[in-house]
Amino acid sequence: MKKITYILACCSLLVGCTNQYESNTMEKQNSQVSTMLDVHSYADFSKAYTTHLFLDLTADFDKKILSGIAAHTIQNNKANEIIFDTKELTILKVVINDKGEEVEFSLGEEDEFKGTPLKVAITPNTTRVEIHYSTSPHSEAVQWLSPQQTADKTDSFLFTQGEAILTRSWIPTQDSPGNKITYSARIKVPDSLTAVMSANTTVSKNGLFEFEMKQPIPSYLIALAIGKLEYKSLGKRSGVYAEPSMMQACYNEFEELEAMIDAAENLYGPYAWEQYDVIVLPPSFPFGGMENPRLTFATPTIIAGDKSLTSLIAHELAHSWSGNLATNATWDDFWLNEGFTVYFERRIAEALYGRDYSEMLALLGFQDLTHTLADLPAEDTRLKLDLEGRSPDDGMSDIAYEKGYFMLRMIEETVGRDKFDSFLKTYFEQFKFKNLTTEVFLDYIHDELPATQNMNLKEWIYKPGLPENCPVVVSNKFEKVDEVRISQTYVTTPAVTKDWTTHEWLHFLRGIDTSWTMENYAKADELFSFTTSTNSEIAAAWFEKSIRASYQPAYEALEAFLIKVGRRKFLTPLYRAMIESGKKNMANTIYQKARPNYHFVSSNTMDALLGYSQ
Ligand code: BES
Ligand code: ZN
Repeated sequence: MKKITYILACCSLLVGCTNQYESNTMEKQNSQVSTMLDVHSYADFSKAYTTHLFLDLTADFDKKILSGIAAHTIQNNKANEIIFDTKELTILKVVINDKGEEVEFSLGEEDEFKGTPLKVAITPNTTRVEIHYSTSPHSEAVQWLSPQQTADKTDSFLFTQGEAILTRSWIPTQDSPGNKITYSARIKVPDSLTAVMSANTTVSKNGLFEFEMKQPIPSYLIALAIGKLEYKSLGKRSGVYAEPSMMQACYNEFEELEAMIDAAENLYGPYAWEQYDVIVLPPSFPFGGMENPRLTFATPTIIAGDKSLTSLIAHELAHSWSGNLATNATWDDFWLNEGFTVYFERRIAEALYGRDYSEMLALLGFQDLTHTLADLPAEDTRLKLDLEGRSPDDGMSDIAYEKGYFMLRMIEETVGRDKFDSFLKTYFEQFKFKNLTTEVFLDYIHDELPATQNMNLKEWIYKPGLPENCPVVVSNKFEKVDEVRISQTYVTTPAVTKDWTTHEWLHFLRGIDTSWTMENYAKADELFSFTTSTNSEIAAAWFEKSIRASYQPAYEALEAFLIKVGRRKFLTPLYRAMIESGKKNMANTIYQKARPNYHFVSSNTMDALLGYSQ
């Protein structure tokens, strides 16, 4: 590993890098491109790469297509060809600046994961490539929702999801996290609807919206949502977009957003994106949240009414540093995005709500990690992945999030918090608007925090499983919950649970074992109304136990939940519980009704889980 870095370090000197940690990067103008090979992109950055993208698109809700132009400003290394990633796009024509006319292009063979390379003939002087195209109604990134699938049920809705490699299914682009570009866009939508993007809105007229993102970002962070949306400011640089009927609830839930941004800045330096808004999407959004810059996309399932699930927003906000400033160079380095973000998220939670609270989050995370370690094949439990020939989705497990978190926490506990905090601050400063590989990270931390040279970081990163020096989390609060569950005091004196937070309830539910009888289920349900809980995390944890125990009174609500909610984190354990407890028929029956409501990200995973073929 070291050798490769050094060779690249030499190359980087030739292109004028300012210091050694830009060892695997080349810096030109305001764009930055990693020379690391990304096995999930067809682009060849050594020939030519995009520095700025201008999108001019019209959204046709009847045909469910986006069509128009993607105009790339390119850095051209005297090449005769530039290669873009596409997936199921129709390319109408390609025009280059220096000829002002159509040029030849060809689409290569389609790969199941990577899609189809688009090769465009350019000249050594070409600086602009204009691709005229339209998307397929089945574009994997885009979900077109009918009014019925929204909160208000009055208008259609659209949202995109780019990470990891889905942007190529709505924009012909060099779809690798290793290339950072600026972008601008003109989006035409039906008159009554509003378009928002991961960018600054510069024009907002009837049906016409223009955007500008001045800071360089990777293609997976380009995002668009269109719907009947309102906006409410939450503070000097934050606010929320939501459908009208959801607005008040969202506004109340995110009251602490500005305080979260302050806490984050206090920890690791200035917020670099000027504005931080959240858009609450319809329930089919496949993730809890997605860190699109300036505009986090969020599931409505975090609107619990009591702010109890907003640590998810702390997570997406933290990505404004880890991931969006310092970005994984390839999807094999995904833990650099998510492990740092989980660490940061828990530090924000600690700053706002105290150590007891953040330790509950950490212990729930450790429980998730233990299950993931047991479920995954050993090679997928390494932090540094090798995803060649596979979907990057395969690497997006709790290993990146929680093993990544625990390694960083181990370093913190060994070198001391003050030192680690100043390391992180410099790290974000050093790598802002850049990419890094795991190897560059290792070199960097060894130099900045020499004590880490004697730690087993390589074991954490390159070996499967969990090293012995994994920090141990102790939560007094969870110990009390265990006592209450085991002694069944929650039945004799239900008031002992009166001050429990969502996380204590989650620990309570996760601890239900096979000793629970139907009477135990019925009694707990009678006392605490789990089946009808409006807290999505509590409901999902209860449904999973109910499925495994065949507690039938929960089934109707379970089915309604699975039809409404498309968040993959909830769907996977619930369908899996049905399969593992001999209820495959029940799973299939529900899935048939629910599938049309799911985004590709979720239906793709559930299809594989249930052996579903269209
Ligand atoms: N960036 C991820 C979502 C993601 C991961 C999209 C992999 C595509 C591929 C986001 O920041 C995330 O981690 N979301 C979590 C939130 C949680 C960890 C608080 C989610 O959606 O559950
Ligand atoms: Zn994340």
